[in-house]
Amino acid sequence: MNKHTIVDYLRNPNDPVLFKQADAVRRKFCGNAVFIRGLVEFSNHCCRNCLYCGLRGNNRVLRRYRLSPDAIVAAGRTIVKRGIRTVVLQSGDDFFYTRPMLCSIIKRIKSLHPDTAVTLSVGERRLDDYRAFRDAGADRYLLKHETINPRLYTAVHPGHRLSRRLRILETLRKLGYQVGVGIIVGLPGQTLDDLAEDIMFMRDWMPGMAGIGPFIPQQHTPFRDHVPGDCATVLRVLALTRIMTKTVLLPVTTALSSIAPGEGLPCALKAGANVIMVNFTPREKRRQYAIYDNKAAVGFKKACTVIRQVRRVISLERGDAFSAEGK
Ligand code: 5AD
Repeated sequence: MNKHTIVDYLRNPNDPVLFKQADAVRRKFCGNAVFIRGLVEFSNHCCRNCLYCGLRGNNRVLRRYRLSPDAIVAAGRTIVKRGIRTVVLQSGDDFFYTRPMLCSIIKRIKSLHPDTAVTLSVGERRLDDYRAFRDAGADRYLLKHETINPRLYTAVHPGHRLSRRLRILETLRKLGYQVGVGIIVGLPGQTLDDLAEDIMFMRDWMPGMAGIGPFIPQQHTPFRDHVPGDCATVLRVLALTRIMTKTVLLPVTTALSSIAPGEGLPCALKAGANVIMVNFTPREKRRQYAIYDNKAAVGFKKACTVIRQVRRVISLERGDAFSAEGK
């Protein structure tokens, strides 16, 4: 598929054919399992100022929290006790957690059960940090590239460059991480052309995973008055990414469940998605992880119910990337 064809698909409201094809590709290359991950949002402090994100450092209204290392490990224990074999540790770009602190947390969670995968999603750090985290046992790293258009990237991340983001992703891959990339669909200023480029990037780079979710305005950000990303477009991007990458793990993003409560989850599973992140952040902190407004909380029971409804198989296993080594 070339760019022109992809843009046509993105525009074309005749979705059933596209979704059927994506679902067939998913079944053939990934099987029927939907992998459950346990997510711990352990700090909402952030030193960056992404224009779309509620955690941005300049947001003075947000009440900030940090979980102690013991509390993070405790959340990890809850996940492992549920039988879930992937613990995802996510935070804003928060350098309060030093390299030794994070290494110790990773080791402690890895020691809870011999077959647990640890996924980190703690943003941009020094390259030696990434090596140390990997040596401590981290298996995967999520760092969305957000958009592959370098001008748009710098427009929404003032003072930052896409080239650095991409260099970090290359480093993570070289260190042996299963790497997750991903995009925000419907960023102010983004075109269908941009989205086609994103899909082609994911096809060519072949990450282990790709998170695809809609932009959702957050009231205390410069983008508060922009329109949210369109659910149907997100589903089309998801389906096209499934068709073009075949094996990449595709989560149902929390953002999609948030703008389309009810149908977001099942529709994404039928459009190529095969991963669900279940939130294990301590309940009283969840609301403070306010990346965007009206964030949904995807719980374990809800995830299982929906997976059964769409006649798929719940998997609590590690669910390693099919394309772990990349190319
Ligand atoms: N809308 C949608 N996604 C967002 N993210 C941050 N802010 C928003 C928003 N307003 C996503 C980014 C980031 C991840 C942690 O959350 O893709 O990588």
